[in-house]
Amino acid sequence: MTIPYHSGNQLVEPPSGAPRPRLAFVGTGYLGATYAICFAELGYDVLGFDIDEAKIAKLRDGQVPFHEPGLGELLRKNLTAGRLRFVTSYEEVAGFADVHFICVGTPQRGDGMNADLSYVESSVTNLARRLQRRALIVGKSTVPVGTAEWVEQLVAKYTDPELGIEVAWSPEFLQEGFAVEDVLRPDRIVVGVKSDWANSLLYAAHKGVFDLAATEDREVPLVVTDFATAELVKVAANAFLATKISFINAMAEICEVAGGDVTQLARAIGYDPRIGNRFLQAGVGFGGGCLPKDIRAFQARAQELGAGEALRFLHEVDLVNLRRRGRVLQLAAELLSRPSGPAGPDLSGTRIAALGTAFKPNSDDVRDSPSLAIAASLAKAGADVRVYDPQGMENARAAQPALMYAESMADAVTGAELVCVLTEWAEFRNADPQALGALVARKLVIDGRNCLDAVLWARAGWQYRGMGRPHPGR
Ligand SMILES: NC(=O)c1ccc[n+]([C@@H]2O[C@H](COP(=O)([O-])OP(=O)(O)OC[C@H]3O[C@@H](n4cnc5c(N)ncnc54)[C@H](O)[C@@H]3O)[C@@H](O)[C@H]2O)c1
Repeated sequence: MTIPYHSGNQLVEPPSGAPRPRLAFVGTGYLGATYAICFAELGYDVLGFDIDEAKIAKLRDGQVPFHEPGLGELLRKNLTAGRLRFVTSYEEVAGFADVHFICVGTPQRGDGMNADLSYVESSVTNLARRLQRRALIVGKSTVPVGTAEWVEQLVAKYTDPELGIEVAWSPEFLQEGFAVEDVLRPDRIVVGVKSDWANSLLYAAHKGVFDLAATEDREVPLVVTDFATAELVKVAANAFLATKISFINAMAEICEVAGGDVTQLARAIGYDPRIGNRFLQAGVGFGGGCLPKDIRAFQARAQELGAGEALRFLHEVDLVNLRRRGRVLQLAAELLSRPSGPAGPDLSGTRIAALGTAFKPNSDDVRDSPSLAIAASLAKAGADVRVYDPQGMENARAAQPALMYAESMADAVTGAELVCVLTEWAEFRNADPQALGALVARKLVIDGRNCLDAVLWARAGWQYRGMGRPHPGR
């Protein structure tokens, strides 16, 4: 059922006796820290909790431990206002909150495609065994369907039944780079609940979002559903988005062999409102801490449930996506006239600038980033690669310590025979091809995101190659 926000949901009194529910966010990574800060901004009393002491120390100090536009100012404002605190003690969290949002990571397991639920298990059990009064535990992490039921069993095992602790699930759709806006002004809120009490308390915990919408003459749709649907909504949404990206990347592969231009194809099909033009940019493919591991975990779970066939197409979606990374290597070999053997291209003796390590612009997240993976494979093929990203350098260094990192875009491209633009940061999109041309050894560019003005670069004397675009002169 879809309930508009003004449908008169009854607000329950929070168990703490506070006028508005007190909120805790367990796990203060990209998701949990953003939520903690934004919900304090909405007027809630908020506690952020993490087992990572260094992360909590930074947050306490007014520093966001990752790059997210606009979040730092809100953090400092709400720390000063006294509505927001960060702790590393489960006791404090258990004693404080009415609603505990579980925001811990659910990465891909090392031994297969399934999600690693060990962080969910340890956070829930550690919290549950310390709860002394009624509370609601709400999962926000992306999880395989069935997890909420399992969390409910864990809670039943570790809490006194007299307390009436309940579980709910509310998947999260924020996009890194737009996270503040997405949390304060979401497209929709989805909650999986089993009782009116959980529904009402969760409504009260989101009332700030609905109230803000009302002042701006907007409505935030609220979908109230069961546990399984709430869990599935998130992975279904990510499966759809990944499929859309891989669809256009598959079209790019066809354009490459048929001589078409996928950017024009995407524009033309995107005018059909049934298709739409968003998420239809061909390039080096999707990455990050969500889409790749979510589509894999979804397939693994469907297999366990006996419905593996239904999601077999996601295997192809994954393969199309990974093939795009190899395409950059192939293009590099072509442009640099290097031989390709059974082990791939030999790029030894070449100098390549790799611009971008973050999986997308306005983020420092390099988890499963195509850009960083491509930089690493160019280096593995023997090239002397200089890597630069406006925000992702620290994470990239930690993930790929053997790569050579440059201080700036100019530093990375100086002396390069080939420039690869791998993340569509504004700094790269708006770079002056004339000025860069004066720094490089050869004017060869691979536009891994189709984000550069090909005509402008060609006019400045560059040999330009995009993804799924014809060779100039063909
Ligand atoms: N990042 C996104 O854009 C996004 C969007 C929607 C959903 N999600 C989902 O949200 C979840 C978290 O993602 P993230 O990107 O914030 O991950 P993250 O790795 O940035 O953060 C996870 C945090 O959980 C902490 N943690 C681990 N075990 C803990 C424990 N026992 N108690 C308390 N904290 C603990 C870690 O120290 C870390 O700070 C994942 O399931 C992800 O799929 C993420």
